Amino acid sequence: MSDPRTDVLDDAKSLAVHAAQWIANLIEAREGRRFRLALTGGSTPRPLYCELASRYRDAIDWKEVEFYWSDERFVPHDSPASNFQLAQETLLQHIPVPPENIHAIPVEGSPADAAHAYEDILKRIYGAQKLDPARPFFDLSILGLGPDGHICSLVPGSPVLDEKSRWAAEVLQGKPEFRITLTYPCVQSSRMTAFYVTGQDKAEAVRGARAHDPKLPAGRLQPDGGLVWLLDRAAATLS
Ligand code: 6PG
Repeated sequence: MSDPRTDVLDDAKSLAVHAAQWIANLIEAREGRRFRLALTGGSTPRPLYCELASRYRDAIDWKEVEFYWSDERFVPHDSPASNFQLAQETLLQHIPVPPENIHAIPVEGSPADAAHAYEDILKRIYGAQKLDPARPFFDLSILGLGPDGHICSLVPGSPVLDEKSRWAAEVLQGKPEFRITLTYPCVQSSRMTAFYVTGQDKAEAVRGARAHDPKLPAGRLQPDGGLVWLLDRAAATLS
């Protein structure tokens, strides 16, 4: 398998500018389809989302873009810890995206209720009960990376790593708050997957993930479509 495309920029700010342009180009090239974008949470993507909002507010046809999340903390959507809130305050409230295009992960009921509710939303939109690798759900999935090699809320040692039939699941250990995460089958169902990683503290996880180390959840990811690494120089130190 050929090495995935890897773009290394000097620092987090120049990576955000570069990645935003790359995403805008992908959306532009969507061939008339709606563009389904799965966002990551955490702190790394903040400059990217701000860049998309500031530089591409009028340059992207946002009514053709649908927003999803690859994981969520089980907290109210207006909580500072919410991945939805991160996207809302940096991007969504600044662009003309129709509310019906925004598919936040529910955080009502129990974590299991929320995971099942999100799976129902995804299946209704996809129009089938089973994902077909030849028809990926997402056009682009942006993934962050934890220092321990986790992606989404697929954390090392979690039973959810072995979930192969559900599309979304609750994660009740391993994080300060309960999480809802896409499972591997669903997060892999993307035409393009982009790891978006900055910082020296991620360099070892980047190295291990790129070497497909099975001890790292990121090392086990097998995207249905293309894969790109978007890194700053610090995160690329060991690669
Ligand atoms: C989350 C994310 C998670 C994140 C990594 C990296 O809910 O926190 O989805 O997978 O991408 O933990 O987080 P940072 O970007 O904050 O380092």
